[in-house]
Amino acid sequence: MMRGAVAAERHKPAAACLVRPFDSNDASFVREIFQNSPQAGAFAPDSSEQPSGFAGPLALVSESQGDVTGFLLGREVADEAEIFNLAVAPHYRRQGHAAALVTSALEGMSSRGIQRVFLEVRESNFGAISFYEKLGFIKNGRRKGYYRHPDEAAITMEKKLTG
Ligand SMILES: CC(C)(COP(=O)(O)OP(=O)(O)OC[C@H]1O[C@@H](n2cnc3c(N)ncnc32)[C@H](O)[C@@H]1OP(=O)(O)O)[C@@H](O)C(=O)NCCC(=O)NCCS
Repeated sequence: MMRGAVAAERHKPAAACLVRPFDSNDASFVREIFQNSPQAGAFAPDSSEQPSGFAGPLALVSESQGDVTGFLLGREVADEAEIFNLAVAPHYRRQGHAAALVTSALEGMSSRGIQRVFLEVRESNFGAISFYEKLGFIKNGRRKGYYRHPDEAAITMEKKLTG
């Protein structure tokens, strides 16, 4: 089967996914997922402008049956980390791929001594807020006017890691 991101209208039965580090060959597939995910964070990875620090467990993709199905981007500073962006192709949602991405990222962070993980999400993005709450993140604040197009507040969330 050809490797690639998936069009929103295709349908497949749920299949297990694997999580692996992002590499530059994934950039176009990740960009397609990003473009199909208007509620995602602002930053999309690009092979030609990958910021330093995006490596290993903080730049991950999920893959199923040869398709890149989702991605997670974040960064670590000292003993804290931030998840910048997370999205799964619409066709692959509610099959556990985002949970696999976040769980893998958290395991890597924990093994490197990260103590707390932060993220922001659009206030209206109830699905993502529920998703993160299910994984143990708690709401810890609100940033008015944080997002543009459209203007919207961010809900800030955090999770403490315990070794
Ligand atoms: C949020 C998002 C990443 C979730 O991806 P996903 O692969 O569908 O999530 P999972 O299948 O791993 O969900 C695990 C659990 O989280 C919860 N969850 C996930 N999506 C949910 C939704 N839309 N509404 C309510 N709960 C949700 C459920 O409890 C789910 O378990 P269940 O399907 O057994 O009920 C995906 O909907 C997405 O890409 N949205 C657009 C981009 C975005 O909003 N990113 C987050 C902000 S940066």
